[in-house]
Amino acid sequence: MAIDLRSDTVTLPTQAMRQAMCHAEVGDDVYGEDPTVNQLQELAAELLGKEAALLVPSGSMGNTAAVMAHAGRGEAFIVGDLSHIYLNEQGSASTIGGAPRMVVKTDARGMFDLREVRSVITNDSDEHIAASRLLCLENTHNYCGGTVLSVEQVEVLAGLAHEHNMTVHMDGARVFNAATALGIPVKELVHSVDSVMFCLSKGLSAPVGSMVVGNRALIKRVRRMRKLLGGGMRQAGIIAAAGLVALQEMVERLAEDHANSKLLAHGLSDFPQIEIQPERVVTNIVIFSLRNSSGQVLGRMHTGMFLRKCKEQGVLMATINDEKIRAVTHYGIETRDVKTALAAIRRVLIDMKIEA
Ligand SMILES: Cc1ncc(COP(=O)(O)O)c(C=O)c1O
Repeated sequence: MAIDLRSDTVTLPTQAMRQAMCHAEVGDDVYGEDPTVNQLQELAAELLGKEAALLVPSGSMGNTAAVMAHAGRGEAFIVGDLSHIYLNEQGSASTIGGAPRMVVKTDARGMFDLREVRSVITNDSDEHIAASRLLCLENTHNYCGGTVLSVEQVEVLAGLAHEHNMTVHMDGARVFNAATALGIPVKELVHSVDSVMFCLSKGLSAPVGSMVVGNRALIKRVRRMRKLLGGGMRQAGIIAAAGLVALQEMVERLAEDHANSKLLAHGLSDFPQIEIQPERVVTNIVIFSLRNSSGQVLGRMHTGMFLRKCKEQGVLMATINDEKIRAVTHYGIETRDVKTALAAIRRVLIDMKIEA
């Protein structure tokens, strides 16, 4: 079987999840009558320290519905230039919800420059300009390599937004990885933000589903937006049952993924043909590039060939752009798989004759 490091979305449900799905008590969740969905929503709200939660089919829909609930038509939201919301969701909150976006730079660790954020914040005083209502954060940060914003960084950003009567949404697709890396309960990390989306279907290994959490009034609006987007589900307890197992049994093991990604990153840093900063790897995402003997980073032709040859050796990885390769550790990837992957990569680098 291939060692699939393309994403933590490839995780398969555990036996306990399959059992739970098989026996789940269900009802019509559009009527609010699915007991398993309700149980999952209560548990998610409790774990994140918020009043309410909502199950949505995907992280993208969760972010879209949340942004639309915070910022209506003509009300702007501020978002990072490397964020999933900005780059990978087809501009949905603007396209569907009519909320214009204001884009700020993201530094290598997933943080914004406070002066820049302050400089793009607007209010209702000038009729030429959409007033900003929402600031979006991402934690962990996917394109920055699974980097983590600390409690203090989140508080500073949230404080700035709140000072300007704006709310804050966190794309926390992997927020449990962030909390695990910091060694704190997830609710501590998100206490200062108004809503969080997190995915059950990534490192937590559930087959489908994400959650949005926030106060009751907000979640009521998110629920309306979910319906608008076609995300009202009926006997969704079948998937919520796996989500419950994910939250009850799969959070603690995320630390194993982090240990494996660090092992991978340090192993990769031994190859002179690989450009990587292993000390930056703190969760389950490893990003690296190929370089030649003069230290020049290689582009699409080489990364494409490298990925093809790794695949022939049974190791799957993905690119995030022409130069950057992403490997993600997750449930189903063991330490021995990381060692096997490193041996395969060594063979590929020799075969490609990238001079060391
Ligand atoms: C940071 C981040 N946010 C949101 C999403 C969207 O999740 P989904 O694939 O469930 O739509 C992803 C998916 O990879 C992600 O990495």
